Amino acid sequence: MTDTATVTPPQANAEQPAALAVDRLWKVFGPKADKIIGSPDADLPRHEMLKETGCVAAVKDISFEVAAGEVFVVMGLSGSGKSTLVRCLTRLIEPTAGTVTINGTDVVGASESTLRDLRRNHVAMVFQHFGLLPHRQVIDNVAYGLEIRGVGKAERRKRAAEIVDLVGLEGNEHSYPDQLSGGMQQRVGLARALAGDPALLLFDEPFSALDPLIRRDMQNEVIRLQEDLQKTMVFITHDLQEALKLGDRILIMRDGEVVQIGTPAEVVASPADDYVRDFVSDVPRSHVLTLRYVMRDPRPDDSSEGLVMSSDTIVRQAARAALASDHVVRVVDDGKLVGIVDDDAILRIVVAEESVRA
Ligand SMILES: Nc1ncnc2c1ncn2[C@@H]1O[C@H](COP(=O)(O)OP(=O)(O)OP(=O)(O)O)[C@@H](O)[C@H]1O
Ligand SMILES: [Mg+2]
Repeated sequence: MTDTATVTPPQANAEQPAALAVDRLWKVFGPKADKIIGSPDADLPRHEMLKETGCVAAVKDISFEVAAGEVFVVMGLSGSGKSTLVRCLTRLIEPTAGTVTINGTDVVGASESTLRDLRRNHVAMVFQHFGLLPHRQVIDNVAYGLEIRGVGKAERRKRAAEIVDLVGLEGNEHSYPDQLSGGMQQRVGLARALAGDPALLLFDEPFSALDPLIRRDMQNEVIRLQEDLQKTMVFITHDLQEALKLGDRILIMRDGEVVQIGTPAEVVASPADDYVRDFVSDVPRSHVLTLRYVMRDPRPDDSSEGLVMSSDTIVRQAARAALASDHVVRVVDDGKLVGIVDDDAILRIVVAEESVRA
């Protein structure tokens, strides 16, 4: 999240296993879809595969892991396979091959009852079209998931009322969806997803239908909720600004494949190819890059005075203090000097940006 001064994305490791692990996942639509994988046809570009076989590989050999508490964004142009990917995670679409593991549960091999338990109790989804129940008041829309779980009316209404407050809908409990604006309806969608306290939240372009100002409000809402609730999230978008703002890491997809996975700074600093470079070309680099990308190696003659900052401080956050100081910035991680940032290094980024905008 780029509005905070430092970024330290949660990472899966031995002590903290991944909340979500996707391994070599495929979804091929079309006749004899399972015969494609492992055959030479699998390597054909999308339009040729369609011509030769009548099949579309919407998701093509995708692997990634998401750590507990991480916001993992999947970004790509229309048709790149984002919705198919996110729907395969709970088998709303049946994957053709590969595995999905959610908090240790093998989703692809799961029985009907395990799958039902997973969808009811552990994973929630927010869609672009809110999918609210039109004949139910806000409070009962929010409580819907709890009702399906068999939670009694008094308890689910109490819980729903808390969540309604949490997402800023207090006072609207007894409205019906069509009495609310689009932004408010999506708050209901968000509240409904949160009400069951799921371990994993999946968002498929939830804010695409909202106008830009409301959209920004909703993004800020997600950031605020995330600070409080520390949920694991997979967030689909085709909007780079949204991806950079929300994502701890971003997976960029094209034609069903992964083009790059990285932090916002990694993606902006070293785009994997022209497709990504094109996406990130208009991004103000100082808003995304961290000192790690502008520091140089320390030299014996460097001053040992001056500011100390960590390598994941965002350049924009560091710029004012760094430029006002008479000394270089000493970049220190875990008590160890890892680099030096000169004024020039900061100016190169900030000034280049001003000239792009001018
Ligand atoms: N049920 C289906 N049958 C055949 N092809 C499909 C089906 N669903 C999706 N596809 C194809 O798979 C590809 C990926 O579609 P998908 O909806 O996952 O893309 P997306 O990235 O979510 O796009 P958008 O940004 O427009 O929502 C597209 O080429 C699409 O036509
Ligand atoms: Mg989609």
